[in-house]
Amino acid sequence: MPIQTTSKIWHNGNLIPWEQATIHVMSHVIHYGSSVFEGIRCYGQPQGSAVFRLPEHMQRLLDSAKIYRMEIPFALEELCAGVVDVIETNGVTPCYIRPIVLRGYGEIGVSPKGSPIEVYIANFPWGKYIAGHGGADVCVSSWNRLAPNTMPSLAKAGSNYMNSQLIHMEAEINGYQEGIALDVNGLVSEGSGENIFIVRNGVLYTPPLANSALSGITRDSVLTIARHLGLTVFEQSLPREMLYIADEVFFTGTAAEVSPIRSIDRIVIGDGKTGEITRKIADEFFGIANGLKPDRFGWLTPVKVNASEPVTA
Ligand SMILES: Cc1ncc(COP(=O)(O)O)c(C=O)c1O
Repeated sequence: MPIQTTSKIWHNGNLIPWEQATIHVMSHVIHYGSSVFEGIRCYGQPQGSAVFRLPEHMQRLLDSAKIYRMEIPFALEELCAGVVDVIETNGVTPCYIRPIVLRGYGEIGVSPKGSPIEVYIANFPWGKYIAGHGGADVCVSSWNRLAPNTMPSLAKAGSNYMNSQLIHMEAEINGYQEGIALDVNGLVSEGSGENIFIVRNGVLYTPPLANSALSGITRDSVLTIARHLGLTVFEQSLPREMLYIADEVFFTGTAAEVSPIRSIDRIVIGDGKTGEITRKIADEFFGIANGLKPDRFGWLTPVKVNASEPVTA
């Protein structure tokens, strides 16, 4: 889907016109992939709109930057205020928010020291990432996720998404909606842009971060919701075949939200319908995000824009 433009983009503390948010082709990031970024959603509420887990996302941005020795000249509160500012200025909700920190135009060598840090925050409308109501048909990728001590999985870095692109393109070309990557030891890691959960005999499982998975904010939200619902939850390594014999499997992510999986490698999961536990967790997640259930975990940051339509399961 083509990007739908909005009016302004936040750049280093100022709001600039969308079309002026450009960078030079000789910028460090273009050649060496030196960027870290976030993906955040703002949901429509019965009264106004709210950003979902804004401080947690911006803290992950600061953490990603720290791993890559990128010094962001803004504090957590300033970055959060920048997000609210750009949403309220553009007046577009529900929306997706894309903060990005990059090494700009300065020197051409691999060493990033002489290239300035630039911070941008854009927002724009973005609907469902994984389409379809009956659940997604996905595959296990022939590509592995990043090996430990090569590219850091806990940093949400632009360069990691070259691996994601390989996983996603292979899946699409072979007629699947998404690919699941294993880690270098053949254990389940995550989707190209989502964490993964399975349910078996009423117990919820997700791979630990040490299996090269991103520390997903939605993953954390689902773990919190599941524990609150009284479910038994294990963060443990999962062999590939656990995917096939699971009763339910679903993806989580800011873009994917809670997305049920119908089949993996053409093996039907459970009875091929969205499972009861997936449904319960999704209801709670969307209920809180859309302001239809109490914000019992303090996840919402209100913004002063009236929503045009709610985003639902
Ligand atoms: C590789 C990868 N894993 C997991 C996730 C889910 O993370 P979150 O729930 O914070 O969006 C994403 C999306 O950001 C991702 O790109």
